Amino acid sequence: MDLIAGFSRWSLSEKMEYVASEWQKSIAVAETETETETETETDVHVNLKSFWHRDQAKQELFQKISENTITNFFLPYGVVPLLLLNQKRYTIPVVIEESSVVAALSKSAKFWSHPDRGGFHAKVLGMEKEGQVHFFWKAGKAGEEGACEFFVRMCLEKRLRECVCDLSERMEKRGGGITSIELLHKREIATNYYQLRVGFQTCNAMGANFINSVLERMAKFLKSESQGRADILMAILSNYTPASLVEAWVEAPIATLPGGEEYVERFVRAVRVATLDVGRAVTHNKGIMNGVDGVVIATGNDFRAVEAACHAYAASSGQYTSLSFVSVDRAAGCFRFGLRIPLALGTVGGLTSLHPMAKFSLELLGQPSAEELMQIVASVGLAQNFAALNSLITTGIQSGHMRMHLSNIAAKLGASEEESKQLLAYFQGPSAKEISFAAVRDALKEMRCKRQE
Ligand code: MEV
Repeated sequence: MDLIAGFSRWSLSEKMEYVASEWQKSIAVAETETETETETETDVHVNLKSFWHRDQAKQELFQKISENTITNFFLPYGVVPLLLLNQKRYTIPVVIEESSVVAALSKSAKFWSHPDRGGFHAKVLGMEKEGQVHFFWKAGKAGEEGACEFFVRMCLEKRLRECVCDLSERMEKRGGGITSIELLHKREIATNYYQLRVGFQTCNAMGANFINSVLERMAKFLKSESQGRADILMAILSNYTPASLVEAWVEAPIATLPGGEEYVERFVRAVRVATLDVGRAVTHNKGIMNGVDGVVIATGNDFRAVEAACHAYAASSGQYTSLSFVSVDRAAGCFRFGLRIPLALGTVGGLTSLHPMAKFSLELLGQPSAEELMQIVASVGLAQNFAALNSLITTGIQSGHMRMHLSNIAAKLGASEEESKQLLAYFQGPSAKEISFAAVRDALKEMRCKRQE
């Protein structure tokens, strides 16, 4: 197999030529079998280029964001028109490919934003992040137990802060910086294995670069000051952020909920199942992440970090469980539904100001602080969870889901706007079959035949 030398340094058109020829090789077999016409390399180029931004400066910007970028991959950017949170109105940007999510979210946000129910409430419980320097302490003479602890605690703690003061100065001016330094001897992992755990406040920045720079500097310092006895393994932030935590909730008199007592009982049961059964909890939390990720992506934040932290948090008791919880005060006739999730988000730095649409999203949200964005994201996760549970315990999700799916199938089949409308009306009718690709294809065929008669 020939390896490729210096691909990242190839020109954009060389990279595109390479991709076009690789693409052609991989579909050639399938096309011979189906006897379809082979697209030429020029067609592939044209197709890839058709997704470039027409403004050259913007396209160049995207190319700089990640290596070997040859084109852009579009995802729908939708909005939830109104969500009331802590008595403030928001229009929420959501980037997601799953067709029913924004519709469900909008319905749920509207329901809870009604004056009878008072909207969403949220509060941030902490904004602390953590980084770790992992190292092994080279064993010395016998009777030297505690040498590493002594070295770090007595000699280095103050100097560890000093060695990074040029890096932390600006963050400190904004009210953040290093909040704690702790040494842990993790004997359960290996005899001489230690972690230097460093706590951070990063204000409105997600802070990954800041944290990692500080940790790498500290690691170097530890190594040199210990004359090599601290054998550094790695230095990196932890994406597990249980101290960067937000809670969101909704509450309302049971009488204002559709279906009253019986509905509430079913809702409570559904949450209980997600609390106790892993198979259900994962799907339940996935629904929450539909909303969370949509806003996290729209605002240029790191959805992989958020996903990893939320699922680790869901398993923090030792059993993976629901991120949301429900309580009913029957005496007061009150229903309360909430969730608590770890979120490490930024509203400055990184992609938030670089990506034009992330910037737009933050402007649309009124330039929130990181703390405010955490509350928004948690509320959207809760709204999505409510929407899913509400459908599941009443109509089931397929009716809403498949209605949205129908328009995707219709588009795939080349239906016109008018035909899509007719298809929707047909599938909502009493005699319609369940929505599936085949059923929509047949219905469209029949509609077109009838028109020609
Ligand atoms: C689909 O993307 C999400 C749901 O499955 C969530 C749930 O089951 O709670 C509807």
